[in-house]
Amino acid sequence: MSSEEPTDSRYPDQLIEGHDYDGIKEYDNPMPGWWLWLFYATIAWSVFYIAALGVGWIDDYDAQLERGKERIAEKQAAAAEDAVAWSEEDLEAKLDDADAMAKGEEIYQGTCAACHGADGEGGIGSAFNDGQWIHGDDMVSHFEITRDGIGDVGMPAHAGQFSDDEIAAVTAFIHTLD
Ligand code: HEC
Repeated sequence: MSSEEPTDSRYPDQLIEGHDYDGIKEYDNPMPGWWLWLFYATIAWSVFYIAALGVGWIDDYDAQLERGKERIAEKQAAAAEDAVAWSEEDLEAKLDDADAMAKGEEIYQGTCAACHGADGEGGIGSAFNDGQWIHGDDMVSHFEITRDGIGDVGMPAHAGQFSDDEIAAVTAFIHTLD
């Protein structure tokens, strides 16, 4: 295409007089319509945006930060509720607590043995007497599993059925089957 050919038949490509830099010249063509409308739209949006900020339709930075902090606090509170309040030592101490062990055995035989076997030999559930653990080998994990279950493998939650103290007792008890 030679430089003389018009690029858009609507505009005759008027050269800007006296506008010549090392042979580079410019046409005096208008901006494309789509570009102009986009530009006007950004101006219209800025007017709306500033007005909306002013009347509070859109949160300003402080309000957004405040909302974010509230959501973090909610999540932290929920996480604290889910956390196991028992430490490994607390649960190990149950092993020396005869009453807790008796309670743990009672719960085990009544509720868990059907799947994990009367002596922890396993069945529908995994074995507890082989020294091997699939989902972590610490007691805190086993407390959490007993309380909340493992959804996709058929280990039921027992949160509603037993108190935390009872769950601690049966969690410790399964470690005596090993
Ligand atoms: C309906 C059957 C069923 C019952 C009842 C049941 N479990 Fe389970 N349990 C399972 C299954 C299935 C698994 C997952 C095994 C796997 O991942 O392969 C499991 C896994 C576990 C694990 C993790 C074992 C590991 O190797 O990491 C623990 C701990 C556990 N159960 C404790 C209990 C306790 C305590 C009870 C009684 C309060 C109980 N379960 C009752 C089926 C059951």
